[in-house]
Amino acid sequence: MQTESEGHTSDGPPIAIVGAGVMGVGIATLALVRGLAVVLVDIDNTRLDNARARIATELRMAQLMGRLADDTTVGALTTTTAVADLAAVAVAIEAATEDLAVKAKIFGELSAVVRPGTPLVSNTSSIPIDELAEYAQRPEDVVGTHFMNPPYLIGTVEVIRGARTGERTMAALERALGVLGQQPVVVGDTPGFVTSRVLHPMINGAARIVQQGTASAEDVDALMENCLGHRTGPLHTADLIGIDNLVDSLQVLYERTGDESCRPCELLLEKVRLGHHGRKAGRGFYEYTN
Ligand SMILES: NC(=O)c1ccc[n+]([C@@H]2O[C@H](COP(=O)([O-])OP(=O)(O)OC[C@H]3O[C@@H](n4cnc5c(N)ncnc54)[C@H](O)[C@@H]3O)[C@@H](O)[C@H]2O)c1
Repeated sequence: MQTESEGHTSDGPPIAIVGAGVMGVGIATLALVRGLAVVLVDIDNTRLDNARARIATELRMAQLMGRLADDTTVGALTTTTAVADLAAVAVAIEAATEDLAVKAKIFGELSAVVRPGTPLVSNTSSIPIDELAEYAQRPEDVVGTHFMNPPYLIGTVEVIRGARTGERTMAALERALGVLGQQPVVVGDTPGFVTSRVLHPMINGAARIVQQGTASAEDVDALMENCLGHRTGPLHTADLIGIDNLVDSLQVLYERTGDESCRPCELLLEKVRLGHHGRKAGRGFYEYTN
């Protein structure tokens, strides 16, 4: 276990975040700027070292964007590869790869380690929460959040209440989101919930338009941004999400709904094969220098 204190640790128990990718880094930054201690978990130390470097950059960005007041004491960040280190956390947020088998194993391990009553939160984009609850020792402790990227700039979060999510878990999550400065919108449990069910097929459709040669990515985004008022065009959004993650989410949606609009189009699949995963890889529909 490695600790790097950016300030002093808040008094309460830390928040655990399992998965140190795009969203793990973003959620950790959100918690740290609110002064909370964070324990971040991933499968190896290289990924954790990368995450620590990215969190330092995100903290600078948060400060530039006015999300970190000069007098704010940033929480302490600890990294580990061992879920066993999470016994005393206040909340555990799973933000690992969008794959049922990966998440099922994490929920089994987490629920064996944390105190009963600790909310076990999944940041899944599309997998129904009640499917994940099946793998936890106490399904009533399992609930979904769908933080958007980057969470420290977006103050609203989709919360998914599973069929077996308990009242105590909902209340504890609401308190935690209050401390994080997030406004919850509670929705029902279905593949993709609200935001992914609407957004991901839309991005797939935008990519299919580029694949067919009807318009370039730049032109699709320009039309969606300048004519329809979307803050970020669908293909810029695909790059921000991560095209590998987007394809995994579309696959989950397609398998569970049979909706053809969710079957990942060939252009998205090709970008994944080529490693053009979007902003995090330096290249997706667009190229990035940092
Ligand atoms: N990217 C987005 O914009 C976005 C938005 C909302 C929700 N989500 C969801 O959040 C989750 C994470 O997405 P992401 O974009 O950060 O993915 P990512 O691919 O960037 O990162 C996933 C991380 O999980 C780690 N991981 C895999 N197995 C693990 C294990 N057993 N234990 C610990 N860590 C493990 C990987 O090593 C990787 O670092 C997914 O469920 C995704 O659908 C993503």
